[in-house]
Amino acid sequence: MFNYQLGIIPALDVDIQKAKKIAEAVKGLKKEIAGLKIGSILCWQHGLPKVVGELKKVCDFPVIFDAQKACTDIPDIVRKQAKVVANAGVNAFIAAPQGAGSATLTAFVDACKEYQIVPIVVLEMTHPEFSAFLSRDAAEKILEKSIDLGVRNFVAPANKPERLKLYKNIAKKKRKVIKILSPGVGPQGGGPDTAVEAGADFVIVGRAIYQAEEPKEEVKRIYDLIDKAYSSRKE
Ligand code: C5P
Repeated sequence: MFNYQLGIIPALDVDIQKAKKIAEAVKGLKKEIAGLKIGSILCWQHGLPKVVGELKKVCDFPVIFDAQKACTDIPDIVRKQAKVVANAGVNAFIAAPQGAGSATLTAFVDACKEYQIVPIVVLEMTHPEFSAFLSRDAAEKILEKSIDLGVRNFVAPANKPERLKLYKNIAKKKRKVIKILSPGVGPQGGGPDTAVEAGADFVIVGRAIYQAEEPKEEVKRIYDLIDKAYSSRKE
């Protein structure tokens, strides 16, 4: 994604001052940081265009918008949401189509293509019991449908490495290469290295970075771990 093979995506679930401080601290880490993830906490408070604008004043990393959770409404609304997101200067938009259905997912992907932002699709969540209201094979169905629509970037849990392997294998059977972005590192129990060994290409890291005394050092430490894991990974 964005020409990166491997990298860290800090999740900026913080206030705007703190988000800018972290962006400032890590802006020189061009190899390590693949993008910045912004979400509901920042954007409900300040508005998406302002948040994107403030971050882009500080650094030039791609900005990934995770509405926590988008792509859950009727197709017409989802199309309009993608337009608003693209107009705010966002580079990639995360959908969570669990409960949405394939017409909504199709509208999301088509609109992202039309407005030239990268569609990213959540396959499953990191927290326990997330699937209590879903069918057993919801994630597999979302993956198959999304691949057919041309999506190549997916979110799947770092704390369930066996699921990452499964998703990569499903894609392989369809002769497609997908990239996996994995949250769930640190407080949610996942290891960045074990996730990458199992198939993650990017790790999404919130608290372990923004609560660290030295976020920049923490990014470098995590990158060393994922870099080693990536080198020894058998595709
Ligand atoms: O602080 P922590 O690293 O646990 O934050 C995880 C981030 O990843 C949050 O922004 C959360 O919304 C997001 N996320 C997740 N699990 C998913 C999808 C997104 O934790 N399956």
